[in-house]
Amino acid sequence: MSKLVTRELSKAFSGLVAVNKLSFSMEEGEILGIIGPNGAGKTTFIHLVSGILMPTSGQIEFKGKDITFSPAHERSRLGIARTYQLIHPLENLTVLENVMIGSVFSRGKNLKEARSAAEAICAELELDGLGRDTSQLTILEIKKMEIARALANEPEVLFLDEVMAGLNSDETRQMIGMVQRIAKEKRMAVGVVEHVMGVIRELTQRVIVLDSGELIAEGPYEEVSKNPRVMEAYLGGAA
Ligand SMILES: Nc1ncnc2c1ncn2[C@@H]1O[C@H](COP(=O)(O)OP(=O)(O)O)[C@@H](O)[C@H]1O
Ligand SMILES: [Mg+2]
Repeated sequence: MSKLVTRELSKAFSGLVAVNKLSFSMEEGEILGIIGPNGAGKTTFIHLVSGILMPTSGQIEFKGKDITFSPAHERSRLGIARTYQLIHPLENLTVLENVMIGSVFSRGKNLKEARSAAEAICAELELDGLGRDTSQLTILEIKKMEIARALANEPEVLFLDEVMAGLNSDETRQMIGMVQRIAKEKRMAVGVVEHVMGVIRELTQRVIVLDSGELIAEGPYEEVSKNPRVMEAYLGGAA
């Protein structure tokens, strides 16, 4: 059974259709690329499946259960986690506390359990200095912290919204390795929104391409990147 399925999912913002009848599915252990020009609806789509926004129409199922209108906290308890394109570390908390939040709220762990889970996840991501204030972190460390916080939810489906943005090529490489490891070891379905096509090519088995909220192509990156409609969408966006 697919982990996550959407059927004809749509979201309109007073007239503007940001996501338009999007049907897709995600499987266990799969790394799926979600690409498309700026404003294509990628972030809105992640907001819809994580419950930050409610759809105008359509359906969302997680492991066969209808979650179309379930609140965000319920979805995170079920096993859907995401990072945010606009990162928002809680500045009065340490790195460790920022990560612990994930498991305290959605997993109902006590503080001791949450602390040891958070420490283990940070160790896996090679994120040190957990007592630091978040203002002292590098961009790479902030991105790792965001991923660690999402992982603390113990998700089965994880969405990463432009986590490579702002990283140099060494850091990007490190992040690619990390995402691959997470998907493989935890058999997680990972949805990756990313602008650098080299990263998409290397990281994903399959991509979906959005343009003006519509799914215009789906398949392996090598195939989709040659699709005339996809090329036109990108050229149109750049013009
Ligand atoms: N809260 C909102 N209110 C109105 N319009 C929005 C809102 N959020 C996004 N949009 C619009 O929806 C479209 C898709 O945005 P977004 O999902 O952020 O695209 P992407 O992540 O692919 O760049 C854009 O035209 C954007 O301006
Ligand atoms: Mg976006």
